[in-house]
Amino acid sequence: MGIQALLFALLFSPFLLTNTVNGISKTTVSIFNILPDELKLTIHCKSKNDDLGIHELRSNESFAWSFRDNFFDTTLFFCGFSWRDASLSFDIYKATRDRFRCPLNCTWVANYDGVYGYSENDGGDDIIFRWPKNLHQIHMLNY
Ligand SMILES: *[C@@H]1O[C@H](CO)[C@@H](O)[C@H](O)[C@H]1NC(C)=O
Ligand SMILES: *[C@@H]1O[C@H](CO)[C@@H](O)[C@H](O)[C@H]1NC(C)=O
Repeated sequence: MGIQALLFALLFSPFLLTNTVNGISKTTVSIFNILPDELKLTIHCKSKNDDLGIHELRSNESFAWSFRDNFFDTTLFFCGFSWRDASLSFDIYKATRDRFRCPLNCTWVANYDGVYGYSENDGGDDIIFRWPKNLHQIHMLNY
């Protein structure tokens, strides 16, 4: 933290305190693999400061991690996803998009047509990142 940021934080310490109290509950991001045919899904998630490592999810397995949004709402995690027929990467948690969308529980489900994101507000999937179309069509021919 730079000296200016520190001074800013001290000046606004009542707000910082409030933010900390509100921030007691952590956000959990979970990724589920429900690809058909027991296909494995490889994921690699990172933030600017953390590398969560490469994980291979078998059928119906999941991977999850928890964190607190930072004071400046700049929290950002991005993930690469790959399986037999396709790969994709996107921002899986972005404070500006997600702090009200899924403050506690951000669930993502990888299926044959893409990765579905679930909001806590209505419980439904509200974001879909589709696998690249050409590969998706090739895969669909098998179904
Ligand atoms: C994964 O879950 C689905 C739906 O519940 C089930 O049909 C399938 O057999 C499961 N696959 C494995 C490998 O457990
Ligand atoms: C998180 O959200 C998903 C999708 O809406 C839901 O299925 C799951 O039960 C929730 N988990 C918790 C711990 O609330």
